[in-house]
Amino acid sequence: MTYVRNCWYVAAWDSELARGQPMAMQVLSERIVLWRGDDGAIHALEDRCVHRMAPLSLGRCEGVNLRCMYHGLLFGPDGGVLEIPGQDKVPPQAKVRAYPVAVRHSWVWVWMGDPAQADEALIPPAVGYDDGRFILGHGHLDYAAQARLICDNLLDFSHLTYVHAASFQAGPTFAERLPEITPLERGVRFSRWSQNVPNIRDPNSAERFDNYMTYDFLLPGVLLMESASFMARTAAALEFGPPDFDTAIAGRNFTSQAVTPLTEGTARYFFNWGPHGDHGDEAMRDGMMQLAAMAFGEDKVMIEAQSRVIADSPGYAVMPTAHDRGVTLYNRIVERLAREEGGAGR
Ligand code: FES
Ligand SMILES: [Fe+2]
Repeated sequence: MTYVRNCWYVAAWDSELARGQPMAMQVLSERIVLWRGDDGAIHALEDRCVHRMAPLSLGRCEGVNLRCMYHGLLFGPDGGVLEIPGQDKVPPQAKVRAYPVAVRHSWVWVWMGDPAQADEALIPPAVGYDDGRFILGHGHLDYAAQARLICDNLLDFSHLTYVHAASFQAGPTFAERLPEITPLERGVRFSRWSQNVPNIRDPNSAERFDNYMTYDFLLPGVLLMESASFMARTAAALEFGPPDFDTAIAGRNFTSQAVTPLTEGTARYFFNWGPHGDHGDEAMRDGMMQLAAMAFGEDKVMIEAQSRVIADSPGYAVMPTAHDRGVTLYNRIVERLAREEGGAGR
């Protein structure tokens, strides 16, 4: 599979890393150990001791350093060995790979490419649970499927009509109508107005809304979506352009999601979701998280089943439909950037 390496990949939720407890992770089939030193900073090294390849994730945090608990080599956050028990000299090759790490928007991001090119400006502008405006629940789901298939799913919401009829009660319009699509430098923007829809929280009310949803799907697999209800006729008044979310009258919510390839055939899907503080509370957030758990379970069943069929289908190619425009645009960016970097950072 083709993946861009010069990208920040989500490796964990910030809250998953307790001080002094190393955590094993895999990104793009590379074993990584993450830990939070006693200064609070998070570090990431190759999870393979330079001595005899024991996992450093079974190691012990000492200050900002990490000790392999097989024969006791002590590693600094830069991957260099600081101590070898029973030996005075540390040879120059005694080091493991260190990954640039950034903590932003409640996520721990790891740069998988050339460390010299790690640029924090490339971190997608996600909304984390540390953002005061939204009340967000969060979680993750592991997939026995290629990350690429999950990205493709998130790039084509026509599946909502069929896969999420039970959970999101998505009607026919997701499949019948194409969204507005705008190519971005490192992704694709999708937006959709739904006009004159009833208030789902109060179906007996005569009140009608114009609903707007928009999301950016950005490298290396990050979905950032905001939606809300506006007064009826807002869409027409704006000539179907984007609204100012501060003028929403109900239902404003945000979700940040990230797909991280663990190995060739497995992936971790991180997500948060919840209402804006003006339009909901913690009880609403909990209800939304229950709905998300159901909906993401529906996706997982379909995508893992699809993945098994694909694995058994050498020589078959996909047949894109009109709804695949976003999928195609995004995957073209992935292929171009991967080609341009030509294995950088390996
Ligand atoms: S394998 Fe790590 S110290 Fe021996
Ligand atoms: Fe879905």
